[in-house]
Amino acid sequence: MQVFAKSSDVKEIAGSKKGVTGFVPTMGALHEGHLSLVSRCRSECDTVAVSIFVNPTQFNDKNDLKNYPRTLEADLALLEQAGADLVFAPDEKEMYPAPDTRVFDLGGLDDVMEGPLRPGHFNGVAQVVTRLFEIVGPQRAYFGEKDFQQLAIIRHLVRTLGLPVEIVGCPIRRGGDGLALSSRNALLTPAHRAAAPKIYAALQKGVAMMPDHSVAETARAVAEAIDSDPLLQTEYFNLVDAATLRSVGAWDEAPAIQGCVAVRAGEIRLIDNIRFK
Ligand code: PAF
Repeated sequence: MQVFAKSSDVKEIAGSKKGVTGFVPTMGALHEGHLSLVSRCRSECDTVAVSIFVNPTQFNDKNDLKNYPRTLEADLALLEQAGADLVFAPDEKEMYPAPDTRVFDLGGLDDVMEGPLRPGHFNGVAQVVTRLFEIVGPQRAYFGEKDFQQLAIIRHLVRTLGLPVEIVGCPIRRGGDGLALSSRNALLTPAHRAAAPKIYAALQKGVAMMPDHSVAETARAVAEAIDSDPLLQTEYFNLVDAATLRSVGAWDEAPAIQGCVAVRAGEIRLIDNIRFK
């Protein structure tokens, strides 16, 4: 496994590889969820490239950026074991030698859910992902479905910018208690960590209510189930058209409906989602 800090080096080596290069962009603090992306990439591509970069332009909260876990040595050991070929781990100056002022048209997919709550977040994701694609030049890129809105936005970007990369969405990985794996889980207090599996339990309860209960009743019940724990506060629970991310009012309003939730657990925000139909 080769590790690079300079974009010109990784560009040259990745560009010299024969066959299909698959790419897994990450912000490090790797867990089983990331490793499942690497393993899928390994099984489908000739070269596996991974990036580790905590991207400042996608953090609207300075404290969140400061506290984001950074575990480079452990990450590299995990990636070596997982069979990665190339790792790109730049510093901020390398990624952004000058401020990135690009503003992307995200087709309104950023007007809902995480968008208004985290102003600038998805534009920052678009900045870093397009730059990483440009440097690594992958034919395929792997993203987790836990960040459902991010995945929809990246698919939109690739389509509208005509980028020559196939986006592969990979299922959410969960702990034995149902909590969706996330680097932020490590920042939960023990009490919040113990409460957090109620989020997935509430999502499952919602799915079981369909179609006998209305969308509004189901949405209310999911939020109430989460908020029944005093350590959890639902920021939103939206039942959305899985393609447009627009809220639906009835079960037959969209061919595919996703339930997306954001929950505050003390200082930490957790997001999760589940397919309703
Ligand atoms: O999902 C993430 O970890 C990040 O948003 C990504 C895609 C690596 C961009 O920084």
